[in-house]
Amino acid sequence: MIEAALQGFVTQLERRFDPRAELSLADLQSVAEDLLKLCRGLDFGRLDLQEAGPGQEVLHNLSVSSKGGPSIYLVSDGPGVTSRPHEHKTWAVIVGIQGCEINTRFQSVVKDSRQVVAVDSVNVGAGQLLWMLPDEIHATSVLGEQATFHLHLYGSALHAVPPFQSRCFEASPA
Ligand SMILES: [Fe+2]
Repeated sequence: MIEAALQGFVTQLERRFDPRAELSLADLQSVAEDLLKLCRGLDFGRLDLQEAGPGQEVLHNLSVSSKGGPSIYLVSDGPGVTSRPHEHKTWAVIVGIQGCEINTRFQSVVKDSRQVVAVDSVNVGAGQLLWMLPDEIHATSVLGEQATFHLHLYGSALHAVPPFQSRCFEASPA
């Protein structure tokens, strides 16, 4: 059962790290690699979850903590979907399952400003990983015509972090 396996992963994670602790990039890399190993043995197609159509974004709750702790979602973005630059206000680990998205990282033009400029970008396709600290800023864009499925593990459940709009930034030309 996929949900049970993911719930087990989160339970192990909560034993390994103090939920209030800040995780380092090395910690996040280790978590991401462990989650990828687990995902390799799971057939997400068996869940028969809705795949996003063109321009559509679909969020599936797979292991969401009612207490607001670490939670796992399966996100499907359709062709043409892009997100505004945003931060998560919690750490994030992303595992590509299907399709490919371009992740562009940004930094503030001036410290603490909401104006940001692109720094670099990396593609996250099936079997590829991304991990981010709470204040890292990124935007995503679906590459190609195939809808994506990406597994998102956050240190805090989405219902426990500030609303998406308040976590967004304005991109300035590079
Ligand atoms: Fe994000």
